[in-house]
Amino acid sequence: MRDDYGRDIRYLRLSVTDRCNCRCVYCMPENGVPMLSHADILSFEEMRDIVAAAASLGVRKVRLTGGEPLVRRGIVDLVGMVASVPGIDEVDMTTNATLLAPIAGDLRAAGLTRLNVSLDTLDAARYEAITRRGSLADALAGLEAARVAGFTNTKINCVLVGGVNDDELRPLAELARDRDLTVRFIELMRMGECAGWPKGRFVSADGVLSAVPELAPVGGQGVSELYHAPGWKGNVGLIRPMTHRFCGSCDRIRVTADGRLKPCLHSATEVNLRGLVGQELVDAMRAGIAAKPRGHRMDDGRASDSLRAMNEIGG
Ligand code: GTP
Ligand code: 5AD
Ligand code: SF4
Repeated sequence: MRDDYGRDIRYLRLSVTDRCNCRCVYCMPENGVPMLSHADILSFEEMRDIVAAAASLGVRKVRLTGGEPLVRRGIVDLVGMVASVPGIDEVDMTTNATLLAPIAGDLRAAGLTRLNVSLDTLDAARYEAITRRGSLADALAGLEAARVAGFTNTKINCVLVGGVNDDELRPLAELARDRDLTVRFIELMRMGECAGWPKGRFVSADGVLSAVPELAPVGGQGVSELYHAPGWKGNVGLIRPMTHRFCGSCDRIRVTADGRLKPCLHSATEVNLRGLVGQELVDAMRAGIAAKPRGHRMDDGRASDSLRAMNEIGG
């Protein structure tokens, strides 16, 4: 379905849990995280109905997000359920990969198409400091297991934090030198935990192009601009929500783990899908898509208008 600004909405990001086994400093507080109760989060059947309603409106791609999707019990079955909805051609997942190694093969067999893996550093101590609970070795084991299981076109998501990992641009980018990976650098967005952080933590992803001058632009892909260096196997991508506007080509909607449709990551607008079935559910989703704003503010130092933190939205 087209929204009011002529954008074709074909991509649904479905948050399957607000929980996470990590506590990344920019995403969640270290302790006392408010968590949804089991009754508040969507059941598998509700998620299947939402995906089916979205498919009837033209959605073709679903990305399972979190929190961390792999902490949701039965996630392999859920992938199978979503993949079998008529009209859905692609089921992807965004994960920190620390729990991936034992189930990468099962996820692939269940119909998962592609993985995006969050990885902000290649230094083990720094990884522990950023994620507070995660281990770099586990994340790298997950990445390797994904390759062995046959996943291709895996993307690495690296959130740039000034003074934390902006001295690692070249080594991180070089993950794409010998491997079929796209390494994407994401500008930190003022949401939740990091909304009030000092200016110096928000750095432009353009620094990647200075750190790796041999990169040349090869076009856009969704929210990211892609670059390639001669002789490299993979690509490097820049996701620059703070310094570049890409809302004009936005093709996505989001559903939170408690069943609220968010037409835009940064707007306060939400449509409650809970308790709706059949035509009512389709109509509510259609109304949500129609309410999709033209875009959000560029970085003006103020926090996002979103009522929710990243772990509730799934990025
Ligand atoms: P592909 O399907 O591989 O293109 O993935 P994706 O980039 O849509 O999904 P992913 O979860 O890997 O997103 C990476 C990050 O980009 C998110 O976690 C956000 O930080 C950012 N991002 C994704 N979508 C949007 C968006 O619509 N607006 C803004 N401002 N940022 C976004
Ligand atoms: N700004 C940009 N990206 C963020 N993520 C989490 N919080 C933020 C933020 N404030 C990213 C994660 C992961 C994805 C799900 O969202 O690193 O790649
Ligand atoms: Fe978990 Fe991802 Fe948030 Fe880190 S950024 S705490 S891995 S949901």
